[in-house]
Amino acid sequence: MSDLQSISQAVSVLRRGDLLAMPTETVYGLGADASNALAVQKIYVLKGRPANHPLIVHLQAPSSDSKNLLEDWVSILSPWARHIPTSALVLIEHFWPGPLTLVFQKSKLALDCVTGGQDTIALRSPSHPLTQELLKAFGGGIAAPSANRFGRISPSSAAHVRSEFTDHEQLMILDGGDCEFGIESTILDVSQEGMPRLLRPGSITPRQMNMATGIVVQTGNEGLQGAPRVSGSLKAHYAPITPLYLYGLQPLNPKLVAHETATSLSNKVAMVYWQGEQSNDFTLTMHDANSIERFPAPKDPVRFAQILYRLLRDLDQSNYQAIYISTPPDGEEWDAVRDRLQRASFGSGPSSSSQINN
Ligand code: TXA
Ligand code: MG
Repeated sequence: MSDLQSISQAVSVLRRGDLLAMPTETVYGLGADASNALAVQKIYVLKGRPANHPLIVHLQAPSSDSKNLLEDWVSILSPWARHIPTSALVLIEHFWPGPLTLVFQKSKLALDCVTGGQDTIALRSPSHPLTQELLKAFGGGIAAPSANRFGRISPSSAAHVRSEFTDHEQLMILDGGDCEFGIESTILDVSQEGMPRLLRPGSITPRQMNMATGIVVQTGNEGLQGAPRVSGSLKAHYAPITPLYLYGLQPLNPKLVAHETATSLSNKVAMVYWQGEQSNDFTLTMHDANSIERFPAPKDPVRFAQILYRLLRDLDQSNYQAIYISTPPDGEEWDAVRDRLQRASFGSGPSSSSQINN
């Protein structure tokens, strides 16, 4: 099927109130017409996501030959956001379409099932060309979380989406190839007075935003009381079923020690280490050397993010007793990857779904 045919089929899926998976530059999304409550409900059911966890609405970008880009962005945002601060427009000018989600005060039209009943709404314009074509042809907003079961690893290819929803063969997947960034968008709250606040680290770092626009992004947990809900901020998320441990210079954590005593020498473990560096010695002493399979990973935050979810999925399917990954270095450029790995580690293991729902 040509791209044109797939897009027209995707538009009819959305118009009749069904779901479809679509590529973005970050991860694949599970999309529905954001103005159709029944369609949006289907996302929660298929994902197994709690109804009070809000969704991001994906929006078309102005055409590239627009004479008045900012005005065009304002008219695209206005049906969804009731107040658009200047700082948001400055960020949009630099980073949209792209992997940045902004949380605004919501308009009257924005559905409660999209916003999780909150007074805010998350909006982003993805840069993936196929999804931009889809948004243009559809003519409305598409509500879409990442196309994975709740709490599990996000998909960065069409095949990943298929393997998440094997019992839903009829789900249409618009195949846009491997995702360029590989982890979810950066989320900023611009709905309150004062500096924009970072809700989820992603491919675009606060420093990059500051360098490009002069805007200072508030990071850390200061004043997070009453903050909007972000399911990506649950302690356990993005999780494989195989136990995942981060190793590094720090003392071994209790989970790791418990695992060490339970380990039988005959079982294989996966160890991900930094390309060009020695793989870690403590694991070698812990396990029979033959039982370790080593995987070099790029020590570059952008390249590591690109392969992270694919790596976790592949390792999770290879029957390892445990997966060990080197703790990412300090520094803001690693924040998004470190955040995903820590949550994946916390949520990992066969009993993880019960932790996730707590
Ligand atoms: O890169 C991405 O952002 C991907 C692609 C598909 O666009 N989407 C994604 O969606 O990661 P999801 O639902 O897996 O994560 C979006 C996060 C959720 O944790 C949700 O709670 C948060 O955005 N969110 C949505 N609306 C919000 C709001 N009004 N206030 C605060 N957080 C919000
Ligand atoms: Mg997600």
